[in-house]
Amino acid sequence: MQGEVWYPSDDVVAAAVVPDHDALAAAAAADPVGFWADRANELEWFEPWEKTLDDSNAPFFKWFTGARTNIVHNAVDRHISGPHKNKLALIWVGENGDHATYSYFALNREVERMANVIRSMGVRKGDRVTIYLPRIPELHFAMLACAKLGAVHSVVFAGYSADALHDRVNASESKLLITADGAWINGQVFPLKGIVDEALRFSPSVENVIVVRRTGQDVTMDALRDHWYHDLVALPIAKGRCETVKMDAEDPLFILYTSGSTGKPKAIVHTHGGYMVGVYATMKYVFDLREEDRYWCTADPGWITGHSYLVYGPLLNGATAFMYEGGPTYPYPNKWWQLIEYYGITIFYTAPTAIRSLMRFGDAWVNRHDLSSLRLLGSVGEPINPEAWRWFHRVIGKERCPLMDTWWQTETGAFQICPTPSMPLKPGSAGKPFFGQAVEILDEEGRPVPAGQEGLLVLTNPWPAMLRTLYREDERYVESYWSKFPGKYLAGDAARVDEDGYVWVIGRSDDVIKVSGHRLGTAEVESALVSHPVVTEAAAIGLPHEVKGNAIHAFVVIKPGIEPTLELGEQIRQHVGAQLSPIAKPDTVEFVYSLPKTRSGKIMRRVLKARALGQDEGDLSTLEAD
Ligand code: WTA
Repeated sequence: MQGEVWYPSDDVVAAAVVPDHDALAAAAAADPVGFWADRANELEWFEPWEKTLDDSNAPFFKWFTGARTNIVHNAVDRHISGPHKNKLALIWVGENGDHATYSYFALNREVERMANVIRSMGVRKGDRVTIYLPRIPELHFAMLACAKLGAVHSVVFAGYSADALHDRVNASESKLLITADGAWINGQVFPLKGIVDEALRFSPSVENVIVVRRTGQDVTMDALRDHWYHDLVALPIAKGRCETVKMDAEDPLFILYTSGSTGKPKAIVHTHGGYMVGVYATMKYVFDLREEDRYWCTADPGWITGHSYLVYGPLLNGATAFMYEGGPTYPYPNKWWQLIEYYGITIFYTAPTAIRSLMRFGDAWVNRHDLSSLRLLGSVGEPINPEAWRWFHRVIGKERCPLMDTWWQTETGAFQICPTPSMPLKPGSAGKPFFGQAVEILDEEGRPVPAGQEGLLVLTNPWPAMLRTLYREDERYVESYWSKFPGKYLAGDAARVDEDGYVWVIGRSDDVIKVSGHRLGTAEVESALVSHPVVTEAAAIGLPHEVKGNAIHAFVVIKPGIEPTLELGEQIRQHVGAQLSPIAKPDTVEFVYSLPKTRSGKIMRRVLKARALGQDEGDLSTLEAD
């Protein structure tokens, strides 16, 4: 094998769920649909499927058609009648020191109580519920309670602003919103309920708001619309069993908004059956789950990583998950290492941006903790540069823990390119396509490029956890993913495959920017920029950043007569933070007289990027003549 390679130790290979990666990969490649049918058979179904894959109306693929199931049956219900009844499902630690643990039995009780409450508010199968909660156990309960009733959850990251929340609530026509009074962030209260009140001013679909008390400050409660959760669960309606609704495998489980290259966010639709099978199997094989594991995924359930590998994946496997409300550096940069030691975390899954930021504090913060419980590490969200990979592997994993760099997307639902622990690893590469998947690297015309050359990444096999469509936007679904290269799923990433078949993802090839692993569309940032009263035109690009991966650089044209001062630049930055989310705040705002555009008026971000990086601007022949 070429380049820097880390070979797994014999004990890791011998103990792995998949000791021979290549053998299973070959078997799955020969019969991908059969591979997935076998995985699905490891779970419980109310009614079996007639067809594993129905591709008769591609790209609207269907999996396990005719089957009846509910993800909650496999994630919770089946465990309480089996050996996992008293096993811990969730260990939770709050930023302020609060903590709680839930066995599978207790988790089921909480989910049933929440589901009874939600049902009492008239929510039925197919209705949408927006969840806007911090990382507290009620977030798990709320997601699972919706799924149990067959309602479609739409989790909105509790760092989004009122406008962003408003758009997502209205686009999904949610009937109910579940939130908290506030969230703890670095010792401060982030006023969630206030944001909700602002967001819901023109949201006719929302009939009720459930408010979990978390931070305890005074909030305004609308007597008709808003209800404290602790009051509701004390009512008789919350008591008693709540039956898990039998769903069609293809019924929607959730929608999750994510950024695209153009226009409004995309509402990705995932289903009960296929998503369940994909998440279950990838979690088991890649994280090599064992009965005694304590697994920590640092992602927020507001993003797909939290959905698949903090909430659903561990539960589907009967595992113990750990969730921490806070961030890595508050009050000190050893917070995470302290938690790993105290709770005996065995599998630790995080993002390169966090690793890069923690690396900068030096090894001493890590070395004062005993991290010997760890046995496997994971990375997600953006390419992990080899330097960060080596630090994570050496300083955190002591060169004994396999490091699984997992490539996937909100759309893919589950891992698509990743190693398994028995496979040799190359720092910076996400490994190989997951079992049953295959990739190609194409040029603009759809021709495969030679090994080692960069091109556009496509997935060539359908997979169970794939998105089914964009909510109420079937055409945009086809257009976004299947129209450039018919029959192949366009990921929107640039990548290359080396001679050993290892995939090296370079980054987005479209107008999506990954900032600290968060996905943002230039279109969203630009619309926040132009909503500032003095900004008439704007363009946003991503520039390489040592810690964040990419940082947003904004170009703005302002009204004539207004002075472009530093203060104004700062005000515009803050405006984007307030309009969209603090994570979307540009690092820099540059005032310009005009923006380079094509004759049809499209902003040429490529030119702006080349200019900002001092590179050759390339072909300018389509540039508008001034
Ligand atoms: C990027 C996050 C390189 C990629 C799960 C993709 C990665 C986008 C990796 C999806 C990785 C995610 N290596 N790049 N291991 N994981 N990405 O929807 O650009 O928030 O298209 O899903 O993140 O972002 P999303």
